[in-house]
Amino acid sequence: MPDKIPYLDLPAQIRSVRKEIDAAIARTLDNCSFCLGPDVTQFEKDFAKFCGAQHCIAFNSGTSALHIALILLGAGPGDEVITTPYTFVATSWAISYVGAKPVYVDTEDGTMNLDPKLVERAITTKTRAVMPVHLYGQPFDIDPILEICRKHKLPLVEDSAQAHAAKYKGKSIGTFGEISCFSFYPGKNLGAAGEGGALVTNNTAFAARAKSLREHGSTVRYYHDEVGFNYRMEGIQGAVLGVKLPHLQKWTNERRRVAHRYHELLRDTPLQLPREAAYAESAYHLYVVRHPQRDKLKEHLDANGVGCALHYPLPLHLQKCYASLGHKPGDFPMAEKAARECLSLPIYPELTDAQIQRVVEVIKDFFKK
Ligand SMILES: Cc1ncc(COP(=O)(O)O)c(C=O)c1O
Repeated sequence: MPDKIPYLDLPAQIRSVRKEIDAAIARTLDNCSFCLGPDVTQFEKDFAKFCGAQHCIAFNSGTSALHIALILLGAGPGDEVITTPYTFVATSWAISYVGAKPVYVDTEDGTMNLDPKLVERAITTKTRAVMPVHLYGQPFDIDPILEICRKHKLPLVEDSAQAHAAKYKGKSIGTFGEISCFSFYPGKNLGAAGEGGALVTNNTAFAARAKSLREHGSTVRYYHDEVGFNYRMEGIQGAVLGVKLPHLQKWTNERRRVAHRYHELLRDTPLQLPREAAYAESAYHLYVVRHPQRDKLKEHLDANGVGCALHYPLPLHLQKCYASLGHKPGDFPMAEKAARECLSLPIYPELTDAQIQRVVEVIKDFFKK
């Protein structure tokens, strides 16, 4: 049987930058700059520049960054935040952590991103923010959502956890909303050697408060202005991210190469392929195909040594943790359909053409049966 094709090949990426990472980690150990420190500060500057933003504040995870974003926007108990039910659960955690209520709006069938046409009718007097996700690395349709936000004087938060280096109408995502939040979880397009996250913003007051909130609500040691958190990025993560950031654009181009090759080779199969919207330049964090017989196809790929995964098998409104919201099947039909049909194929910068062809061959073999 041909070699297995892993769903994700993190060792391949680490190998390509291993020497620099070893040196960066050694430097952190020599300096003992374990919590924040010079490498984190430098990474914040570089990542802000990469996003075209004035400020970047680094955190210990993307979830923490989202949590702080909603605190900065003043969301709290009794408030509502509009978001998508079809995302990783952390988008909703941030809303729950501040005591607000996630108000879900269904997704578009094609992009699986929040449907701009449905946003306005979800707004109430309690709405405090709108927080869509650039799902799978493809920007959501920002302009119509921004227009609604402006009309109702609501801030937009971009959950950019999956979309480093993605572009909307030619411009990098990250500064369209008041705040944009990124994750550097190891499997992300820009991944740390552990947990990590950041928020970027052009709002100087937000940046200053975010720095204080991540460090126990303090700007002067042992003086605490408000109840804060220990959400600091570790020095080692700043050092590793500093090594990887200069490669991000090249790695994104490689992801796009893989995606285009899949498009070409899978065009004549019964699969619904990911559609890149005209406004979008996707960072292809994931390459998600769809088919009603998804479970059988997954079994077939697994049995033939092709790694694949589900993002996401159950939308958030149907999760046990959100049962108290009182949703039922059928409330968000597009998200539910996507959850039934989605299948993520291997995609990473190091995936070779031979590996892509093998994935395609196994898929075609399934449909021949
Ligand atoms: C859409 C989305 N939002 C938020 C997060 C949370 O990021 P983290 O895992 O760094 O806390 C993730 C990733 O895990 C994500 O994919």
